[in-house]
Amino acid sequence: MKRIIVGITGASGSAYFLRVMETLAQQELEIHVIASEQGRKVLTYETGVILEEQTQLWNKSKADIILEDNENLFSPVASGSYRCDAMAVLPCSMSTVAEIACGITKTLLTRAADVMIKERRKLVLVPRETPLSTLHLRRMTELSELGVTILPAMPGFYGHPQTLDEILGFVAGKVLDSLEIENNCYQRWEGNHEK
Ligand SMILES: Cc1cc2nc3c(=O)[nH]c(=O)nc-3n(C[C@H](O)[C@H](O)[C@H](O)COP(=O)(O)O)c2cc1C
Repeated sequence: MKRIIVGITGASGSAYFLRVMETLAQQELEIHVIASEQGRKVLTYETGVILEEQTQLWNKSKADIILEDNENLFSPVASGSYRCDAMAVLPCSMSTVAEIACGITKTLLTRAADVMIKERRKLVLVPRETPLSTLHLRRMTELSELGVTILPAMPGFYGHPQTLDEILGFVAGKVLDSLEIENNCYQRWEGNHEK
């Protein structure tokens, strides 16, 4: 069974996390969810969702979902010897971007990301901030140079989305594509021969 780590931090856009989790929960996967303290707070502030309660609901679907303690550096996902296939952090705050880029690993979330980089496994970060400062851009460039996928929460509108769910689905689908997880979250571009 594929093992995926999904992190959530205190940037705006926690609905993207919910949209990705909704799709992952329906597949036979082992999923480790790691939330920063601020990630939990912003999730509840923006969506009303309490992570523990929501995890119980997701666990009624196909996936095996483990809600990790961000302070527990004894977790299996803190080690490269526990082979995880991929990790996404969404949304990813600029604070967490900077910690990962600098190799600061005092929490399980940043340690797990550091492990993905050192083991050269797939790591996808979904940053959300605007405008971006040179500092933010530098940290993201460093991560990109290390092979990390920087997939900003920037929905496209060429599919003519009509609902918020379709807008969320665009970014969620791109994240899942990057994690190599089958999904129908968004309408794929099939070309347009009319000029
Ligand atoms: C409602 C709310 C929205 C926020 N949105 C963002 C954001 O979009 N991007 C960002 O980098 N920080 C944002 N922040 C600030 C982060 O939460 C803050 O930097 C925090 O230290 C991040 O911690 P974490 O990375 O451990 O979750 C927001 C804070 C609040 C309260």
